[in-house]
Amino acid sequence: MIKPHGSEQLNPLYVQDDAARAALAAEAEGLPSLLLNSAAAANAVMLGAGYFNPLTGYMNLADSLSVAEKLATVDGLFWPVPIVNLTAESGIAAGSRIALRDPNVEGNPVLAVMDVEAVETVSDEQIDFMAEKIFRTLDPEHPGVATFKSLGRTLLSGPIQVLNFSYFEGEFPETFRTAFQIRAEIAERGWEKVVAFQTRNPMHRAHEELCRMAMDDLGADGILIHMLLGKLKPGDIPADVRDAAIRKMVDVYFPENTVMITGYGFDMLYAGPREAVLHAVFRQNCGCTHLIVGRDHAGVGDYYGGFDAQTIFDEEVPEGALELEIYRADHTAYSKKLDKVVMMRDAPDHSKEDFVLLSGTKVREMLGNGIAPPPEFSRPEVAKILMDYYQAL
Ligand code: ADX
Repeated sequence: MIKPHGSEQLNPLYVQDDAARAALAAEAEGLPSLLLNSAAAANAVMLGAGYFNPLTGYMNLADSLSVAEKLATVDGLFWPVPIVNLTAESGIAAGSRIALRDPNVEGNPVLAVMDVEAVETVSDEQIDFMAEKIFRTLDPEHPGVATFKSLGRTLLSGPIQVLNFSYFEGEFPETFRTAFQIRAEIAERGWEKVVAFQTRNPMHRAHEELCRMAMDDLGADGILIHMLLGKLKPGDIPADVRDAAIRKMVDVYFPENTVMITGYGFDMLYAGPREAVLHAVFRQNCGCTHLIVGRDHAGVGDYYGGFDAQTIFDEEVPEGALELEIYRADHTAYSKKLDKVVMMRDAPDHSKEDFVLLSGTKVREMLGNGIAPPPEFSRPEVAKILMDYYQAL
């Protein structure tokens, strides 16, 4: 199987031994606490699950600035997005051992224990520098920029040990999987070539066919549908609805044993190209050899060019930095002329009118009014689940 990023073996920061975990949980109750923000909590979940291998905890300021600027830590580890614990709290001293409490679970239970190596103040200029590099904009309307700038100016860095996976295991027992669980399942299935499909949406025909095309073109053994289960911006479709729609689609339209439906616990960054690279890193960590990167991958509004999330792999990812390769998809839609879903680059004689194209806004409006989008756009079974959701709003 493909090696994890940056090490021979995956080293998840979740404490796997039951007795050791119970002892750590008991110790944590006596430690000083920090209530995390959702972004730092999501980082802890990803670190615990092995997705952020080989990191051992939260980055310090020098590494964060270096990663933001040149996609590598000070020591030269390739990494696309600072993994930080930024807080507005003060009063935590370097050298202390603290309990990190979960903002997303009632009662704020301890999510992880941290050995604080450094406490650094980040200037407004440094925050802007990082935000601009990560998001390619400082527009406060950009949801990722707004979140990043609201996290606080105190950066706590150091190793963590993770006690649980927040609300993800309880809310999505069938779907939430750690990187080590996915590696184990891929090994059990005997898959070698595995294509990951990142998504934060229910899957329409274009998404479905992208998976099929990637699988056929690459001669892959299987597809890992890997959906984001964490927080999104208002208006995006909640994870349980997407999960149900995706399961139905796979059930009806894919051959058995060709698809794994899974999810990961992270909040959407909306960082477009940089997030696509992060997606590639953590798909390699879960044992995938390829990641589909299509149009406006991890984008929002019109902050990114349609294929910036592909060109970053040519322009900013050094040769050999990753073993996983991306599968580049062109804009994909149903062709009325050919009577099937195609990539536009494969239909050079077509004009816009030859495709069934619907904007997200239009589709939401139709679903809200109980009108199913045409079957060329959405499978009827998927449309039904989405209509039920929108009409209950
Ligand atoms: S994302 O934010 O998770 O990337 P989404 O779930 O919409 O958003 O997209 C999942 C993947 O499918 C991304 O790689 C995206 O680029 C790709 N994609 C979605 N729709 C299309 C389309 N019509 N044509 C080409 N690629 C697409």
